[in-house]
Amino acid sequence: MQVIILPSAHDVALYAADRVVDVINTKPNPVLGLATGSTPIALYKELVARYHAKEMSFRRVVSFNLDEYIGIADTHQQSYRAFMERYLFEHIDIFDENTHVPIADSQDVNVLKRSAQDYEEWILQAGGIDLQILGIGLNGHIGFNEPTSSFASRTRIKTLSESTVVANKRFFEEGEYQPHLALTMGIGTILESKSVLLMATGKAKAEAVKAMIEGPLSAMCPASALQLHEAATIVLDEDAASLLT
Ligand code: F6R
Repeated sequence: MQVIILPSAHDVALYAADRVVDVINTKPNPVLGLATGSTPIALYKELVARYHAKEMSFRRVVSFNLDEYIGIADTHQQSYRAFMERYLFEHIDIFDENTHVPIADSQDVNVLKRSAQDYEEWILQAGGIDLQILGIGLNGHIGFNEPTSSFASRTRIKTLSESTVVANKRFFEEGEYQPHLALTMGIGTILESKSVLLMATGKAKAEAVKAMIEGPLSAMCPASALQLHEAATIVLDEDAASLLT
């Protein structure tokens, strides 16, 4: 695990953009793993700017997002499909059919289980993920792999922890239905990516970052599993790194 500490959140986004552009421009069939949430928005803005500056094209790129809510349609404003369209896909030349977000738009558990298996299959068929972008939850989650998730877990249905539901409340209107379930890549799925880049910014993430990097390998801090990955980079701003010894 390599840890990089940069002065600001802006520098973190620039570093992440350099890594993504490098994968796109050096791999014949680049496969990107993408995340949602507040942290990667600056990265996606930077990628859109670089695309407009003709630094790269997304024509050969295939993408797989980490997770999607169960219980809201993928057309819902707060779905992760809609997030990706809004911040990245609709601004670049990626082919629609090459963008994958877990399909979680069903109430039928068997349909969801099948969808999770298909997702694993599609990642394999694409040749595996070259670079997986991650954020980290306040409780140390990656994707929606909440504390106690197995390090061997695969794409599956997961119940969101209370702390995640509270943290994500800000995205939903007062009184609006907020999902408590998601379909998420597993920790085992994430660890199979050829390289991983976890971005964390801001003081609020400092405890989780410390547990991920300096704590023991523990299912109570799912991100600590990245200690096992030979090509994992953790890129932090000074606030997120502030509790590291
Ligand atoms: C999003 C995801 C989550 C977020 C994490 C941090 O696809 O998988 O693990 O990366 O909750 O979210 P932010 O960046 O909003 O603090």
